[in-house]
Amino acid sequence: MLIAGNWKMNTTLDTARTLANEVVAAVGDPGAVQVAMCPPFVSLDAVFNTLRGSSVKLGAQNMHDVDGGAYTGEIAASMLRSVGCDYVILGHSERRQYFGETDAGVNRKVQQALKHGLIPIVCVGEVLDERRAGKEQAVVKTQVEKALQDVTLANAAQLVIAYEPVWAIGTGETATPEQAQEMHAFIRSLLTAQYGAMAADIHILYGGSMKPGNAADLLSQTDVDGGLIGGASLKAPDFAAIVTAGQNAVAGA
Ligand code: PGA
Repeated sequence: MLIAGNWKMNTTLDTARTLANEVVAAVGDPGAVQVAMCPPFVSLDAVFNTLRGSSVKLGAQNMHDVDGGAYTGEIAASMLRSVGCDYVILGHSERRQYFGETDAGVNRKVQQALKHGLIPIVCVGEVLDERRAGKEQAVVKTQVEKALQDVTLANAAQLVIAYEPVWAIGTGETATPEQAQEMHAFIRSLLTAQYGAMAADIHILYGGSMKPGNAADLLSQTDVDGGLIGGASLKAPDFAAIVTAGQNAVAGA
């Protein structure tokens, strides 16, 4: 079980430090649940210092796909490692929608993250029109297969997939537990086709308006192995309540 907070373009250095401190205090010992927070780049170093001695891990929200060089404004995997990141979110729908990220580009980033020992949280998910047209599985199949093209079995254990239906992100609308389970089981079948039995160990997170009120139902689904939390990760008590729901789901499984 992994609960990761995606802070998006929120917080300044000061408020990021405060939020990180509040989350560490509120989460306490998360037991069997892995917890991560993904602040904006400029606050990674400060937040890492806040997380020292806690079991909460650090992640970034994006990175470039080459080692370094003349790429003004970009951030390399080695830079993320140097400020304490274990995770990096890749191919978030907002990156795809507003910054033109493609499946091929996401694949290059996944390979680059793995090369540098970062755990990629690879985001996939359909938009509303695709779901209305009954194409959600076809869309997600393409996204998963292209993102993981040539990713070896040896590296597969490091993968995290986040299923985030775009119509549920930041909208207050959530996939029902049944809709989430159906898609997660489908993603698991794609991973099994590529990696065999070890697909059972790959974390598949749900993202899209997960909050304390719906987390227990979503996280108790067989193939839901955690959550990628946007809005609710900006409030420490809400985020901690989702971590608790994750603990309960693990205990009840
Ligand atoms: P949300 O965002 O929880 O605010 O819907 C989730 C995400 O985009 O990762």
